[in-house]
Amino acid sequence: MRCVDRYSVGIPALGEEHNRVFERFVCVKQAMAKGSDWNDIHLAVASLIKSFEFCAALEEALMRIHDYPGREHHEQEHADLLQSLHALEKANLTTGLTQKMIGSTFASTMKHHLTQDRRCARYLPQPTERAHAARQ
Ligand SMILES: [Fe+2]
Ligand SMILES: [Fe+2]
Repeated sequence: MRCVDRYSVGIPALGEEHNRVFERFVCVKQAMAKGSDWNDIHLAVASLIKSFEFCAALEEALMRIHDYPGREHHEQEHADLLQSLHALEKANLTTGLTQKMIGSTFASTMKHHLTQDRRCARYLPQPTERAHAARQ
C-alpha cells in the first residue's frame, strides 16, 4: 500500500483514493508546465475528474451506510468541487486553462479534505486491526 500519511483520514481505502486525486492534480499541473497540447491536458483533467467522482462516491456510500449527520453538507461540497473541476475542463477546451485556476481548485479540494473529510472520518467506525491485516 502506498498511502501517504498526508492524505490519510485513518481509513485505508479512502487514503488511497485521496492519494489518487491529489496525484492527478499534479499530473494536470505538470502537463500545463511543460506546455502540453490541449488534448493531453484534457486527458489529465478528465482523469482527475474520474478519480474525484470515485472518491466522492465512496465517501458518500460510507456516509449513507453509517447515517453520518453532516452528509447533506458534505455531499454539497462534493457537488461544488465537481462543478469547479468541470469548469477547468471547459476552460481547457475554450478560453484556456491557467495555473491559477488549477491552484484555486486544488486549494478548495485540499480545504475540503482537511475539514469535511477528516470530520467525517472521525465519525465513521475505524477498521479493526484484524480486518486491516486480512486485506494485506
Ligand atoms: Fe475526500
Ligand atoms: Fe469528501
